[in-house]
Amino acid sequence: MSLEVHIDWAGETLLAGRLFSAERGGAVSFQYAREWLLRPDRFALDPTSLPLHPGMQHSATLFGGIQDCGPDHWGRRLIERAVRRKVLAQKPFRDVDYVLALDDHSRIGALRFRSGPGEPFLSLSVGVIPPLVRLAALLRATVAIHLENETAEDLRFLLGEGSPLGGARPKSAVRREDGGLAIAKFPKPDDTRDIGAGETLALQLARNAGIRTVESQRVTVGSASVTVIARFDREGGQRIPFLSAASLLGLESSSPGSYTLIADAIRRFGDGVTEDLIELWRRMVFSLLASNCDDHLRNHGFLMRKPGRWGLSPAYDLNPVPEIERARMNQTPVSEEHGDSGIAVALEVASRFGLKPPMARKVLGEVVAAVRGWRDAGKALRLKAGTLNAYASAFENPLIEEAARLLKR
Ligand SMILES: Nc1ncnc2c1ncn2[C@@H]1O[C@H](COP(=O)(O)OP(=O)(O)OP(=O)(O)O)[C@@H](O)[C@H]1O
Ligand SMILES: [Mg+2]
Repeated sequence: MSLEVHIDWAGETLLAGRLFSAERGGAVSFQYAREWLLRPDRFALDPTSLPLHPGMQHSATLFGGIQDCGPDHWGRRLIERAVRRKVLAQKPFRDVDYVLALDDHSRIGALRFRSGPGEPFLSLSVGVIPPLVRLAALLRATVAIHLENETAEDLRFLLGEGSPLGGARPKSAVRREDGGLAIAKFPKPDDTRDIGAGETLALQLARNAGIRTVESQRVTVGSASVTVIARFDREGGQRIPFLSAASLLGLESSSPGSYTLIADAIRRFGDGVTEDLIELWRRMVFSLLASNCDDHLRNHGFLMRKPGRWGLSPAYDLNPVPEIERARMNQTPVSEEHGDSGIAVALEVASRFGLKPPMARKVLGEVVAAVRGWRDAGKALRLKAGTLNAYASAFENPLIEEAARLLKR
């Protein structure tokens, strides 16, 4: 199979190259288009797995930058269920088929795919992205998926207009009242606590700690709450190229990587390197102090605003994890050289992020103050006392004590 790979850039949709995939197995090849390589503003779609050069490039698995705009556990589950209920005629068997099953308009990042010149971009958009007033219908459909009593209509709705995007949790693309694109993240029937409340609180604490985030809001839908988060890969209707840290590092998302390796990638491919290195260190200590333990390499992302230069995206998928659940998480270690990821190690490696000790202490102090204010911030967000109590052990933890001790020295 051969596919044209286009990218939306500077207000145009441009042919960047062609992707070839074997009928069976995961092997793929890619070649940049001649016209793309002749452009003065050409850039690599993924500088690590698809560097800019004219020859055919081969890989045993789908190139990271293309995988990043495809579905993850939640989307794959929907696609597989749609095959079972005969909403999709054929079971996708290659990773690229899963990417193509997602709606073109709402897919993450700026890549677009079609089978040849003049053909429509895949997957054809089947309708309009649901406005917020349809949240109740979307929530009902996601619950039906969990209870395994969904209809073909539910699947068409969630896979089509409500594009599942990436990640493991139930979610959908939605249109905000101001017309901007957003992600709605839904509760699951088997959640043991209000995950959306935790994410909303973590986003607020991150803002208070000086971390860049996008706007988020809690929307009450019946007795449930849905978290609606503005999309950072769209600006004034234009798409912005996106890459996960996993792709920039050329690592599988299951591989732990480390914050110091992300820092090295920022030095190599970054945009606003000095600021981003400080921002990354700030996010790292925030994740430690707020028990954001699921900070794996797909939960760090980069946006491209200048050709070939990748800047940190706003922070996303921040989830405080209570102590009892921490062991099961995919935490990104501070550094590849230290087994332990405490605050002392974070301070020790700060120079790899370009931070001198006084600056590192200043940033640490700001993050500690923000996390210590978790209960007041939660009350200001009108989260219920029971919900806040469920998160207490995420914020009141030994690392906060360690940070306070180190700051007193
Ligand atoms: N605000 C945003 N704007 C654009 N893309 C986003 C935004 N937030 C998340 N994404 C993209 O969507 C993907 C899924 O979102 P998110 O990580 O929040 O979901 P999740 O289901 O909680 O993930 P996980 O599997 O890590 O638990 C992310 O990996 C990222 O590529
Ligand atoms: Mg995620």
